[in-house]
Amino acid sequence: MALKDTILEEIRHDGPMTVARFIEHALYDPQHGYYNQPQRRAGTEWVTAPTLSPLFGHTLARGIAPLLEPLQDPMLIDAGTGSGELARDIALGLHEHAPETFERLTLHLVDASQQALQRAQGTLQDAGIHPDDVTTSTTLPQQATGVIVANELLDALPTHLCQATPNGAQEIFLVEGEPTVELAAGPPSTPRIQDHAQRTAKTLDPGHLFEVPLEAIDWAKNAARSLEQGALVIIDYGAKRNQLLDAYPKGTLHAYHHGRRIEEFWFNPGTMDITYRIPFDTIQETSENESLQTRAYTTQGTLLDALGIREIAQDANDILQAKKLIDPQGAGGTFKTLLQTKNTPHPHPWPQGTNLPRT
Ligand SMILES: C[S@@+](CC[C@H](N)C(=O)[O-])C[C@H]1O[C@@H](n2cnc3c(N)ncnc32)[C@H](O)[C@@H]1O
Repeated sequence: MALKDTILEEIRHDGPMTVARFIEHALYDPQHGYYNQPQRRAGTEWVTAPTLSPLFGHTLARGIAPLLEPLQDPMLIDAGTGSGELARDIALGLHEHAPETFERLTLHLVDASQQALQRAQGTLQDAGIHPDDVTTSTTLPQQATGVIVANELLDALPTHLCQATPNGAQEIFLVEGEPTVELAAGPPSTPRIQDHAQRTAKTLDPGHLFEVPLEAIDWAKNAARSLEQGALVIIDYGAKRNQLLDAYPKGTLHAYHHGRRIEEFWFNPGTMDITYRIPFDTIQETSENESLQTRAYTTQGTLLDALGIREIAQDANDILQAKKLIDPQGAGGTFKTLLQTKNTPHPHPWPQGTNLPRT
């Protein structure tokens, strides 16, 4: 059955569908979900920093090495690994900059998609990283001593969508309509969403749309809880929540089709990537409540520059890619990086502090 018909059938049976449930179908349906189709993969349909250039992971390795060095059995966990390029490039960077740590390292790949995990294992094998040193799972390990890195994972998790009204907040749902489904507002589907949405809606004009990213919040909570010693590194596009609310009165949720931005994320489920911008302070507070200490919140460009990407870039092509990765008007400014640690000192080369200019 086509994915749009599966969705329609569920709406007819269960009533209005939350946007989070719709995204779950559209991105992760085992057969027709966007991320489970072999022809749709990073580097072809979409580009992330690790698929753009190995420089990204090689440079990050310089900041990650001092976090792993003091640990007895250090683990590097690449969460939402996709096709595994980031894990490969950080590992190869560690091999070069911190060979003693590399020798003791376990690489752990996490992805909700089994197909992605298989591809990622192939990527590491092709790079000569011995498969015995690589473990995998579809969810985060329950306990971890090491560094958990999540690059462009949180923005790919389902989110709820809500709207401010003169009487508080409403949630946005998918209902039967044109061409197959359309959006409609109604009372929030759970008390937790109601609670989050009411608090945000109080400050907004009626009609203002905003995401309630409970999956991302829960992911951060789990990651922080699982970490016994080490660090959590989140890299994604986003900003502080009030900056996002000020800048995006229609919310930040949208789709990409062959690199073209589409506002109607609910069209043709399974054929488009669906994404939104991460409210970094919401994620930061969640992990702080689970005993992580925030060390740095900075732009991708500032971080890569501080870690020495310009020195690492050797040839003309590298220099071009490095410029793209640090460009403050492009990915270098739009992408933010959050470093939080547990029982671990600040890693020396990583910039410190959490106050960024408005972007
Ligand atoms: C946009 S891709 C990013 C891939 C990679 N990190 C990169 O930067 O190229 C997001 C990945 O997260 C995976 N994913 C989605 N939900 C997940 C979850 N709850 N836990 C782990 N991985 C998940 C998807 O299957 C997909 O491979």
